[in-house]
Amino acid sequence: MRSLPITSFMAFTMAANAFTMMASPPLPGLDHEPKRVLVIGATGRVGGSTVRALRRLPGGTKNLISVGGRNAAKFKKAKERWMSLESKKNGVDTFDDVEFVPMDHEDRIGLLAALASHRPDLIIHTAGPFQRRTAPEVLKAALILKVPYVDVCDDIHLAQLAKGYDGEARKGNVPCLISTGVWPGISSLMAVDVAEAVGGIEATDKIEFEFFTSGSGGAGTTILSATFLILSEKVLAYVNGRPHYYDAASDFRKADFGKGIGLRQVFRMNLLEAFSCHRVLGVPNVSTFFGTAPNGWNYLLKGMAMLPAKILQDRALMQALAIVSEPLVRLVDTLVGTANAMRVTATSKRGTESATALYAHEDLETCVGEGIAAFAAQVLDGKVAPGVWYPEEAFASLEGRRDVFQLATKGCSTWERPAGIDARGRQNVAQSCT
Ligand SMILES: NC(=O)c1ccc[n+]([C@@H]2O[C@H](COP(=O)([O-])OP(=O)(O)OC[C@H]3O[C@@H](n4cnc5c(N)ncnc54)[C@H](OP(=O)(O)O)[C@@H]3O)[C@@H](O)[C@H]2O)c1
Repeated sequence: MRSLPITSFMAFTMAANAFTMMASPPLPGLDHEPKRVLVIGATGRVGGSTVRALRRLPGGTKNLISVGGRNAAKFKKAKERWMSLESKKNGVDTFDDVEFVPMDHEDRIGLLAALASHRPDLIIHTAGPFQRRTAPEVLKAALILKVPYVDVCDDIHLAQLAKGYDGEARKGNVPCLISTGVWPGISSLMAVDVAEAVGGIEATDKIEFEFFTSGSGGAGTTILSATFLILSEKVLAYVNGRPHYYDAASDFRKADFGKGIGLRQVFRMNLLEAFSCHRVLGVPNVSTFFGTAPNGWNYLLKGMAMLPAKILQDRALMQALAIVSEPLVRLVDTLVGTANAMRVTATSKRGTESATALYAHEDLETCVGEGIAAFAAQVLDGKVAPGVWYPEEAFASLEGRRDVFQLATKGCSTWERPAGIDARGRQNVAQSCT
């Protein structure tokens, strides 16, 4: 890791001290304590959807939401797009009070200075791609300034590096949630649900995650480039408690995502849930599959996975490819839709029980924002203890999952939870909105 020059380090420390000495001033005219929420990367699709979902939370418009990013013109355009999307679906919101805070999260000193002068009560980091980063710089800045933190990191290596700051977060009394969203995020809590339904985590032998997105799901170029980067990776799965690596885009098979989505082709893809589910829950067999539509895209991705890793791992090249292919991807999205679906299945060690949870939403972009906002709301409500947590650690209890699910699944077209018993032996009733 590059060390900071001494003057920069002093500026860094002074900014941090100034920040921690000042409590954020209450905002006038509101009947409950409002919070300052900063969404980094909200000029993009996932962060923008998070801003919109934060506003729709109960009392959400009372919070002061700001967007951290590199490009003010892009922020203005994003705001116009949010206004048009919200007026079509949820009524008029002009987003007039949403501020832009210029920052580049790759500039450590600039980031800290911007955060110190803005003084958020919560940082939500959505500015991916998270692949091939060598340190969780935004989390580190949040810990220096003692600001609660939420991210949407979908990279195993970076998430593990973030977990390394758990002790620091506990010591500093800072609640931090990593790898939130729909997948990872809601998917990880669905895994706890299905494990409990087959007799509890101890009794669970296998968890399989299957994901489906129509086209790009309306996602931004970052998700496209993240997908290309992931294709360069061997696929981590756990077999009898040991890591096992498969080729990307191998083992094509069909998965049933239920009403409205149906049977879809999926293949192995390196997704964070395999790691976090095994590491946190201790399930011995875990695997992850993904598929898209039209079916031709699946074979295109398989073809891409055969390219030399050196090409696929070139972040700049993959971002450029994502930008070039965006018009075609958007055209296909208009033909196939932008749905997102998840299927999580547990099998018991005795092999006699299995349980499946299903989730589907007609629009990936919207549901990711709703998922992130649901997790962020738990932090804002003081329900997350100090530390750096994966979702399945922080919301292992039935009550914890219920609170997140209630907010995150409002817009679903399919939401089916199995009946089961939670860790403290209470009945968890089957739930369905299909
Ligand atoms: N957990 C989940 O459920 C889930 C689901 C989907 C996606 N994701 C993750 O969400 C991330 C974002 O995807 P997206 O579709 O929103 O991508 P996007 O539309 O391309 O947006 C990314 C945004 O981040 C900003 N950004 C990039 N680098 C930055 C920097 N150094 N400083 C400040 N801002 C920066 C970009 O702005 P400029 O480049 O213009 O500055 C852009 O607006 C991806 O990494 C993806 O993997 C998670």
